[in-house]
Amino acid sequence: MMPDENGRVPGAFPEGFLWGAATAAHQVEGNNVNSDLWVLEHVKPTLFVEPSMDACDHYHLFAKDIRMLASLGLNTYRFSIEWARIEPERGAFSRAALEHYRRMLGACREVDVTPMVTFYHFSSPRWFAGLNGWEDPAVADLFVRYAERASKHLGDLIGYATTYNEPNLPMLLKWVADLGISLLTVKFMRSHAARAIGAQHFGCFFLGDAEKLQETMIAAHHRARAAMKSGRGNFPVGLSIAMQDEQPEGAKNNRDRKCSEVYEPWLDAANASDFVGIQAYTRQRVGKHKDIPPDPGAELTQMGYEYWPAALEGAVRYAASKVRVPIYVTENGVATEDDKRRIDYIQGALTGLHRCLEDGIDVRSYIHWSLLDNFEWIMGYRPKFGLVAVNRETQERIVKPSGRYLGSMARANAILEPVGK
Ligand code: BGC
Repeated sequence: MMPDENGRVPGAFPEGFLWGAATAAHQVEGNNVNSDLWVLEHVKPTLFVEPSMDACDHYHLFAKDIRMLASLGLNTYRFSIEWARIEPERGAFSRAALEHYRRMLGACREVDVTPMVTFYHFSSPRWFAGLNGWEDPAVADLFVRYAERASKHLGDLIGYATTYNEPNLPMLLKWVADLGISLLTVKFMRSHAARAIGAQHFGCFFLGDAEKLQETMIAAHHRARAAMKSGRGNFPVGLSIAMQDEQPEGAKNNRDRKCSEVYEPWLDAANASDFVGIQAYTRQRVGKHKDIPPDPGAELTQMGYEYWPAALEGAVRYAASKVRVPIYVTENGVATEDDKRRIDYIQGALTGLHRCLEDGIDVRSYIHWSLLDNFEWIMGYRPKFGLVAVNRETQERIVKPSGRYLGSMARANAILEPVGK
C-alpha cells in the first residue's frame, strides 16, 4: 500500500496493533467432561441442541492450529484456559493440565504470536456448580485461588489476560423480550444436573440470578486481578464485556437505563483494571420496556441477530465515553454460511474501528471471533463463526477466504479491499 504525500498509508492502523482470532476452551477443545456444561449437555431435558463431544479436538491439535493462525498473518491468539481441567476437584490442581496450557503458550511464542488468555469463559468445574456457582459470594475465594495458581504456573508466557469473558451477559439477556427458552426445561435441567453430580444445587453462569452473580463476580475480579499480577510475569489484566450498539427507539425509550444496568458496573471495574475488552456483534434498538426485535425483512445472521457491521464502532465509541483505560476489541464476528458476507462484515467493522482511531480513541486490537467453526453453546455446531472451517469427522481444517482476507490486512496493518471485489 502506497503512502500519500504526507507519508500516511490510507486505512493504516497504529504500529504494534494486535490482529488476532479467538476461541474458548469448551467450544473447541473437546471432551471437557469435568465441566458443568458437559453435565447440562447430557441430562434430559436439556437446552443444548447437541453435546460438544470432540468439538474441534483443539486440545490435541492446538500446535497445528496456532501455526495456521500465524501463517494467515495474524499476530495474536486469544484463548481460554479451562478451570474444570486445572482444578478437577476442589483444591486439587492438575500439574499436567497446567503444563498443557504452558505448551499452548509456548506454541504461540514459537511463532511470535501474542497470547491473550481468558481465565473464565463461561464454563466451571462441576463441583463449583454443586456449590451453586456464582450465586454464593463465598465462592469468590475459590476463583481467586484458581487464578493465582494458574498465573503462577503460566504467567511468564502470558501476553495479556482477562479474568472473565462477558460476565455481563446474564444482565444483558434480561433485556431480551423473548429468549425463546422454556423455564420449565431450565428447572428440570438444573435439578437433573444436580442429581447427576450428587449435589443439592446446580449453579451455572448461564442460568443464575444475574444480580447476585454480578456482585460476586465484580468483587472476585478485583481480587483475582491482584492475585494474577502478584505471580510470575508482568502482564496487563482486564476484562471483556459483551456489548451491543445500543440505539434508542422512541421518546420514552430505556436505552440509558439499560446501559447503566448492563454496562456501567463492568466498565467501572475495567476502568480500575489495565484495559477493557469490547465484544460486539450487532446493534440493538431499545424501546420503552425491553429490546425491540429486528424489523421483518432485516438481514439476520444464523444467531438471529441483525447483520450490522457498524455495531463495533458504536460499541467502541460508547465504551470510550466511559473509560480511561485502553480498549482492546477482543471479539467481533458474524455467524453465516456465506463467507462473502463475513468478508463484507469484517471490512465494515474495521472501517468503523479505523474512524474511532482517527478520532483519537485508544484502540489496540482487533480480535475476530472465531478462529474455527466451533460449538456455539446451546445452539450446537450450526452457527458458523470461523475464519477456518472444521470437518468434525476428520478434524481437517479448511481456511476460508475471510481468513486469508483478515490475515492480509494484519500483514499490511491496514484495511484492504477484498480480492476480486
Ligand atoms: C462469546 C463466545 C460466543 C460468541 C458468539 C460471545 O458472546 O464470548 O463464546 O461463541 O459470542 O455468539
